[in-house]
Amino acid sequence: MKTVLITGANRGIGLALAELYVAQGWQVLACCRKPEEAMQLQALAQQDNALSVHRLDITDFEQIDKLAEQINDQAIDVLLSNAGMYGPKGYGLDDIDFAQWQQVMSTNVLAVAKLAQAFLPHLLKASTPVFAALSSKVGSHTENTKGGGYIYRSSKAALNSVVKSLSNDLLSRGIKTVSLHPGWVKTEMGGPNALIDAATSAKGLKQVIDALSPEQSGGFYTYLGERIPW
Ligand SMILES: NC(=O)c1ccc[n+]([C@@H]2O[C@H](COP(=O)([O-])OP(=O)(O)OC[C@H]3O[C@@H](n4cnc5c(N)ncnc54)[C@H](OP(=O)(O)O)[C@@H]3O)[C@@H](O)[C@H]2O)c1
Repeated sequence: MKTVLITGANRGIGLALAELYVAQGWQVLACCRKPEEAMQLQALAQQDNALSVHRLDITDFEQIDKLAEQINDQAIDVLLSNAGMYGPKGYGLDDIDFAQWQQVMSTNVLAVAKLAQAFLPHLLKASTPVFAALSSKVGSHTENTKGGGYIYRSSKAALNSVVKSLSNDLLSRGIKTVSLHPGWVKTEMGGPNALIDAATSAKGLKQVIDALSPEQSGGFYTYLGERIPW
């Protein structure tokens, strides 16, 4: 049985990914900040003991180390770094909230590098491991024609840089790494006007991960497998 670890698995795309992987017979290590409030995830765990719920605030590095230690014998075939935050909306160059920017960078960038570091031994135990990070098309410099969005854009651009370096460092050790744009998805972050639902996004993301070749490692792809320019 293959194992996936998913961060932010209590709602949105993370929850849809957890539902999909468990339905397809995977062992799912579903991580979230507040397991006691993650009712849908707890219900899934009740239905299928292949899914377990783990407390994990990704900005709490002690918690990351503790979880890595708790499951130290466990091979992880796919690590899905899904948890992320958008940060403030509706601001301009004149009124950037720099404290919030730091929070977004901590969550979307530093925490993802910490996850890769802490769970590297678990990935190395798997036969064809993948480290997949949920990025966003708005982190593409090429596609940034409108400006604005300093906080979220810069966090996802920096995340892409982390993913690229991880790929250069880890591909020779058998770990493929990828940045994925999930589409514009109807979740709390994506809002009600988004184009696709979370189940459609999750299905596409899993297909891209399943088919990922070593040549594609370090790349940036949509949930439909289309390459996104940096
Ligand atoms: N929706 C879109 O259209 C869209 C488009 C492009 C990229 N993305 C990316 O896709 C990923 C998932 O997005 P989504 O739409 O599902 O977002 P969402 O509905 O806002 O859910 C965000 C998830 O991240 C978790 N999270 C945030 N900070 C965390 C932390 N410090 N520790 C642990 N978990 C944390 C949240 O947990 P809590 O419930 O505890 O807050 C929640 O589970 C994100 O990385 C996002 O940037 C989304």
